[in-house]
Amino acid sequence: MTEKETYWSKFVADFEERAHYVVGNDNIELIKAELSKQTDLGNTLELGCGNGTYSKILAPEARHLTATDFSDEMVAFSKQRLENLENVTVEKANCFSLSYPELSFDTVVMVNLLHIIPEPEKAVAESRKVLKPNGRLIIVSFTTEGMTLFSKLGVTFRYLKTFGKPPPTAHKLTVKITKKILSDCGFRVDEARLIGNTSKAIFVTAVVS
Ligand SMILES: C[S@@+](CC[C@H](N)C(=O)[O-])C[C@H]1O[C@@H](n2cnc3c(N)ncnc32)[C@H](O)[C@@H]1O
Repeated sequence: MTEKETYWSKFVADFEERAHYVVGNDNIELIKAELSKQTDLGNTLELGCGNGTYSKILAPEARHLTATDFSDEMVAFSKQRLENLENVTVEKANCFSLSYPELSFDTVVMVNLLHIIPEPEKAVAESRKVLKPNGRLIIVSFTTEGMTLFSKLGVTFRYLKTFGKPPPTAHKLTVKITKKILSDCGFRVDEARLIGNTSKAIFVTAVVS
């Protein structure tokens, strides 16, 4: 039997609105602005693309973007949403077992994936396999690191109200943990910092070393 994603699939129709409510419009815009500064992405693989919010930002700088997700519902939604972008293909892929040839991508991107999956190091190791020498990994993931207690309570309340109980695989990711995972998997970290105002996200770029 094929493994099926069920938690996020429920929110496919209005995932973006829910995420905006939880972390705030300005924080989402900030992530988009930071991602759009990443230029010359080449042949790019996006893992856990959801409903394509960030695929739209990555596409203009990619020679080709393969936007992927584990959820059939997210894939179907993004296929429709991104159908006018000629250099984008949307397909199903599990970040733990990629079937792409080794050394085939210049860039791999994961936005809000690493902090919701078990064993993030496996997804990073899998990404490294499909990256070319000197290939780039870009990671953005929401975190409560660096947030005030008041902001943490607010984001937790809004999350519970909007998405309900978090998936059991969700965990807190910090800049330090992310850097360690990357160096253990054979990446050289170029940039690693927190971005955001009231809500925060980890923003890390690394290169195959
Ligand atoms: C929190 S959502 C983020 C979606 C999108 N990147 C965004 O930030 O708007 C996480 C996404 O990862 C997908 N996902 C979960 N586990 C996955 C896996 N093992 N492989 C690929 N995608 C996965 C879910 O289906 C969901 O669409």
